[in-house]
Amino acid sequence: MTSPQVSSAAAAAFDAVAERFDARFSPWLSVAAQRRAVRTALAQAFPPGASLIEIGGGTGEDALWLVERGRQVLLTDASPRMVQMASAKFRASAGASAETCAAEDLAQLAGRIEARFDGAYSNFAALNCVSDLAPFAAGLAKLLRPGAPALLVIFGCVCPGEWLVETLHRRPKNVLRRLAAGDQPARLGGREFTVRYHRRQDLERAMAPWFRPAGRRGVGVFVPPSAAEPWVSRHPQLLRTLETLDRSLAAPLSGLGDHILYRFERTGAEAQ
Ligand SMILES: C[S@@+](CC[C@H](N)C(=O)[O-])C[C@H]1O[C@@H](n2cnc3c(N)ncnc32)[C@H](O)[C@@H]1O
Repeated sequence: MTSPQVSSAAAAAFDAVAERFDARFSPWLSVAAQRRAVRTALAQAFPPGASLIEIGGGTGEDALWLVERGRQVLLTDASPRMVQMASAKFRASAGASAETCAAEDLAQLAGRIEARFDGAYSNFAALNCVSDLAPFAAGLAKLLRPGAPALLVIFGCVCPGEWLVETLHRRPKNVLRRLAAGDQPARLGGREFTVRYHRRQDLERAMAPWFRPAGRRGVGVFVPPSAAEPWVSRHPQLLRTLETLDRSLAAPLSGLGDHILYRFERTGAEAQ
């Protein structure tokens, strides 16, 4: 089957790995621990019955989890193959659907569908593949009702866990890479693309005036980044201890996470 045209180098890279994405990442306990932390926040923010839009939803793991708990989710992703993988998973579950749509193109989606969602979320750094977040924020504003929460999980810029892991791996170039400004080279599935490590103030500036900041917490402050795999999965007791530390300290140490979960709320500002 031929995929529809991909909209960016990042979408092409994720397209290339879509079929093996779950098989590679799901067994890793560090990824599962970080996902559990995000899901706790999603379940608290969005009550059963809420209609949600997901941005960069990949193969649909979180969407499926939410739908099984009574929420409705429209998953969007820039990679057509990712959307195919998610759609296949959703076949048996009413309440989940998937569309190929880049985060930057949400305004076009809003022009095509009537729905105004009760909330939005994006997990595990999909928005780090987007250089300029302003068109994303403007488009998302059109899709959410006033007061709707938006939970956005992006890479943290100051990540001691990565400093440690990359130092032990003897990859000095990677140690401080998240402190760099502008687009940074990345590679996946043999393809080059760029990521941007968005600072808090850049994210908040892009989200205004349609969204007001409503808190943040670290995801993976003590639980390490996936670069610690497969080693850390061979030490489940250690990981359980690190996850317990995250549960109590990831809020006060929010700036030190592998990821940071930012919570915003849709204001009453009119979408343009
Ligand atoms: C690391 S994966 C995370 C997937 C999923 N959120 C999860 O938690 O498993 C990043 C996702 O972002 C998607 N992506 C990359 N660039 C994007 C863009 N500009 N707009 C929307 N999605 C994008 C990729 O196709 C990929 O599915």
